[in-house]
Amino acid sequence: MIEELPITGWTGPFDQAVKERAVTALESGAVLFFPRLSFAIRDDEKEFLDARVSDGKAKNISLEPSTGKLQATSLTGEKAQRLGAMIERFGSHATELVQALLSYGNVERARTSYRPVQVKGRSYSRISDDRLLHVDAFPTRPMRGRRILRFFANVAPDTSPDGGRRRWQVGEPFEDFARKFLPRVGPHMPGKSWLLDMLGITRGRRSPYDELMLSLHDAAKLDEDFQKTSPQQAVSFPAGSCWMVFTDQVLHAALGGEFALEQTFHLDVVQMADPARAPVRILERLSGRTLV
Ligand code: SIN
Ligand code: FE
Repeated sequence: MIEELPITGWTGPFDQAVKERAVTALESGAVLFFPRLSFAIRDDEKEFLDARVSDGKAKNISLEPSTGKLQATSLTGEKAQRLGAMIERFGSHATELVQALLSYGNVERARTSYRPVQVKGRSYSRISDDRLLHVDAFPTRPMRGRRILRFFANVAPDTSPDGGRRRWQVGEPFEDFARKFLPRVGPHMPGKSWLLDMLGITRGRRSPYDELMLSLHDAAKLDEDFQKTSPQQAVSFPAGSCWMVFTDQVLHAALGGEFALEQTFHLDVVQMADPARAPVRILERLSGRTLV
């Protein structure tokens, strides 16, 4: 479930054997863990290790790499610019590593986020509570079968609570999860995805795959019995480590930790070494429907 790669730097070239191990692990639903890879915060950036850099509304501060737009920070002016530069430096390191380590060809760099607020002790609605096991599916971003790959760096100092560890739970394989929940999630309302698109609520039209993934995300979070009794494993990422995972496939929950950076990547199913392992292909096989 956890595959360790002892690499220490962001740049390749990497051995063919290491590259194959990385792709096989990721596609089979493992978390790729880099215990010896750290993202270095500079001395003049240490001031950003403070929950008050968040505006207190959104869960994360986010950077849109195509526009450089920084969202949900309380900082302004020169400080906001330096925070943006730190997040951007992380995003470009993560992108360089992903391009060098994974044989996917061109992978789309999506949003970069900074998560300065302690996960434990915040209050959320159940559906937006990422302390509950879920697969990622986003209401406003239709993926139409494309994959969501996320790279994380724990930048907490070891003086943070719990030694700065970021604690996750990782759940059962996607197919087991899907078999359990598919019979329970009904067909979506005809015309709904068209309407959401017309109203500008979604960026483009949701496919049946997107509707299904959202239903699975919500159903998992709402099922207390599933949360408590489904097979799962605690994983803890030490301060100064990194990890990467297909979050649309791997059931995950973040239970505790502060100060993490995250880079999201999108890629097409056909870029995978084994496209049959993609959630869209698994759901199509199990439901007997075409979903995109
Ligand atoms: C999530 O993707 O559900 C949260 C992960 C994290 O912030 O550690
Ligand atoms: Fe998530």
